[in-house]
Amino acid sequence: MKSSALQLSLDTAVAAAREAGGLMQKNLRRTKQVNEATRHDLKLDLDVQCQERITRRLAVDFPEIPVLGEEGADPEEARRDHRWVVDPIDGTVNYAHGIPHASVSIALQQRTGAGFETVAGVVYDPFLGELWTALRGKPARLNGRRIRVSTRRRLDESVISLGFAKTRTSLDRMLPVFNHLVHRVRKIRLMGSAALALAYVADGRFDGYVESGIRLWDIAAGGLLVESAGGIFRTEPVGPDYRYSLNANNGGIDRALQRVIARRGPPAPTS
Ligand code: IPD
Ligand code: CA
Repeated sequence: MKSSALQLSLDTAVAAAREAGGLMQKNLRRTKQVNEATRHDLKLDLDVQCQERITRRLAVDFPEIPVLGEEGADPEEARRDHRWVVDPIDGTVNYAHGIPHASVSIALQQRTGAGFETVAGVVYDPFLGELWTALRGKPARLNGRRIRVSTRRRLDESVISLGFAKTRTSLDRMLPVFNHLVHRVRKIRLMGSAALALAYVADGRFDGYVESGIRLWDIAAGGLLVESAGGIFRTEPVGPDYRYSLNANNGGIDRALQRVIARRGPPAPTS
C-alpha cells in the first residue's frame, strides 16, 4: 500500500473509531441490552451496533478490505492482502457496568508471507478523549503528540498490568504470575481493556502488560502502538481462533518479565 493510502487508512480508522466512541459515550449511563452472559463475560447489543457503524465507515473509503471483528468476520478476511481487525468495544464488562474505561480498537493488517502484520492502528478512549495512533515505521502518537515507552529497567519500580481473559484455563494460567509479581513490582493493575493497557504501555504509564488467551482484535492496534513507541510486543499463538499469549513491555524490563512468565505462567489456552 502506498504511503498516501496508508495515511488515508489511518484517517478512516480514526473517523470510524470516533463514530463508535460517540455511540459508547451516549449510552454509558443507559440500561444496555445484554445479548449473552457467561461466567466471566458479557456481550452487549452495543458491541454489535458499534461494529456495524465501524464497518460501514471503513467501507466508505475501503470497500474492498474485509473486516475481522470481535462481533463477526467477513469470510474474505483470511484470503485478501489486507484486512481490518476491529474490537468495537474493548472493555465490554467495564462499559456494561458504567465504568468509563473502555476503548475502540481498529488495526489495518497487511499480508506478509504466511501471516499478517499491523501497518496502521488506532485505539480510542471516548471517555477521556484520548486517541492513540500509529503507522508502521513512524512514531506512535497520543492526540497528535509523539509518545514513548517508559525507561524503567527495574521490575521493583514498575507498574505492570495483567489481563485475565475469560476462561478458567486463562484465569488459572495468570494467577501464579499475579502471585509472583505482586510482591516484586511497585503495583499490579487489572483495568479490563487490553487495547487501552497496550496504549498505556506505549505512553509510558504502564511498564508492561501480560495476558494469556487474549484475542487478536484486543491487541492488533495496541501492539503496533507499543512497537512504534519503542517497546517490545511478544505474542505466541495459543489456539486456532486468533488466540495468543502476550508480553508487551518497555524493553527495559523485558528479560525480567520473560523470566517470570517462563517460570510461572503463559502460554496455555487452546480454548
Ligand atoms: C477483553 C478485555 C480484557 C481482556 C480480555 C478481553 P472485551 O475484551 O480486553 O481486558 O482481559 O482478554 O477479551 O471482551 O472487553 O472486548
Ligand atoms: Ca476486546
